[in-house]
Amino acid sequence: MFDIRQEQIPFKVSFILVDRQWHDFFNWLCMRITGFELKNFRNCLSINRVIDTEKTLIIGKNGQGKTNILEALYFLSTLKSPRTSNIKEFINFNADKFSVKANILKNDVESSIEVQYEMGQKKILLVNGIKVTTKEFRGFLKSVLFSSGDLMLLRGAPLDRRSWLDRAIIQIYPAYDERLSKYERIRLQKNRLLKDEFLNADLLSIYNEQLAVCGANIIHIRKKYLNEISQIAAKKHKLISDSENLTIKYDYDGDGVEAILENLKAELIERKSEEIARKQCCVGPHRDDVIFYINDNDASKFASQGQQRTLILALKLAELDMLKEKTGEPPVLLLDDVLAELDDLRQNFLLKSIQNGIQTILTSVDTLLFDDEFLKTVSLIRVEHGEILNN
Ligand SMILES: Nc1ncnc2c1ncn2[C@@H]1O[C@H](COP(=O)(O)OP(=O)(O)OP(=O)(O)O)[C@@H](O)[C@H]1O
Ligand SMILES: [Mg+2]
Repeated sequence: MFDIRQEQIPFKVSFILVDRQWHDFFNWLCMRITGFELKNFRNCLSINRVIDTEKTLIIGKNGQGKTNILEALYFLSTLKSPRTSNIKEFINFNADKFSVKANILKNDVESSIEVQYEMGQKKILLVNGIKVTTKEFRGFLKSVLFSSGDLMLLRGAPLDRRSWLDRAIIQIYPAYDERLSKYERIRLQKNRLLKDEFLNADLLSIYNEQLAVCGANIIHIRKKYLNEISQIAAKKHKLISDSENLTIKYDYDGDGVEAILENLKAELIERKSEEIARKQCCVGPHRDDVIFYINDNDASKFASQGQQRTLILALKLAELDMLKEKTGEPPVLLLDDVLAELDDLRQNFLLKSIQNGIQTILTSVDTLLFDDEFLKTVSLIRVEHGEILNN
C-alpha cells in the first residue's frame, strides 16, 4: 500500500510567453493535430482529413456526425468520452471493429497516435505504429472539450460534475486514473461483500481501511485541482459577469490528505451499520459533489440561465489555461455546438480568449452564426451521413 503522505501531484510550474519572439517559439513548441482518420467509428465509416489551419469549423445538419468526430479526437486524447464508458458503443452498428487515428505535430516532430478496437478483444494503442501502454499513450494529445451539454453541468447530477472533474485532472496527472480504478475495484469488492448473506466483518474492516487511504488520496487531489482552477475561473468570471464572485468548493471536509483520511475513517465507522443495512458503500469520493457559488449563493439552485452559462464558460476557459500552464503545451480546444448557445458578449469573450496559439475545432449546424472575418480564418469541413463532403 502506498503512503499517501508521500503523494505529490506532479503539477509543473508554468511559463508565460508574452512577446512576439516568444509567441513564435511557442508555436514551434506547441502541439497540434495535423490530420485524423476514423474507421467504423459510430456513423463515420471512413473519414480521412488533413488539418492545416489553426481553426477548423465542422458544419453539418443534426445527426450527421459532427459530435462523433470531436468525440473520436477527445477519445484519442483521454481514452474517455463524456457520452459513454463502454468502448463497444463506438463501433458502427454494422461493423465489429473501429479505429481512430490522428497525426500530431509536437516540437516540430510529426507522430501518429491510434486506437484500434475489435469486439471481444482488448483495445490496441499505437504510437507511430508501435504498441504502447495506456500510461504511455495518454497525455500525447492534450485537449479540452466544451460541449453544449456542459452548460447543464450545474443542474446535472453529481456524477456529471465528478466525471468532468476527473477527466480534467487526468489530463494533467494521468496516473490519477489508476487511483480511480483502484478505488473503484475496492469499492465493488466491498459492495459485493455487503450483499453477502453472512457478512465477514474482518474483511469489511480491511476494505474500509483500503478505501479510506485510496479515497482520501482522490479527494485530496480533487480538492487541490479545484482550489487552483477556481482562482483562474473566478478571474475570468469577474470579467464576463460584471464583478460577480465565483467560488468553487469540493463537498468534503478536511484540509490536507491526513485530515481527510481521519474524516473518512471516522465516517466509515459512524455509518457502518447504515452501509450494512443498505448493502452498499455510502461513504467515499464516489458520493461527493462539486458546488459552485455565485456571490455566496449555491449556483445550482439560484443562478439564472445566463449566470450558469457565464460560470461554465469561465470554468472551461480556466480548464484550458490550467492545462496549458501545468503541461507547458496549449491543448487543442474542441467546441461542440457551444457558440450557438452563447449570447454575443459570451461568444466574443470565448473567441477572443482563443485568438492565437490555441488550435480549435468547432462544430455548428450552420455558418450563419459566425462573422465573415472569423470564417476567413477557418477551414470548413462539411459533414453529411458520417462523411466529409468537401475533402
Ligand atoms: N455506434 C454507432 N453506429 C452507427 N451510428 C451511430 C453510432 N452511434 C451513434 N450513431 C449515430 O451517429 C449519428 C450522428 O451523431 P452525432 O452526435 O455526431 O450528430 P451531430 O452531427 O453532432 O448532430 P447534432 O447537431 O444533433 O448534435 C446519429 O444519428 C447517431 O444515431
Ligand atoms: Mg452534436
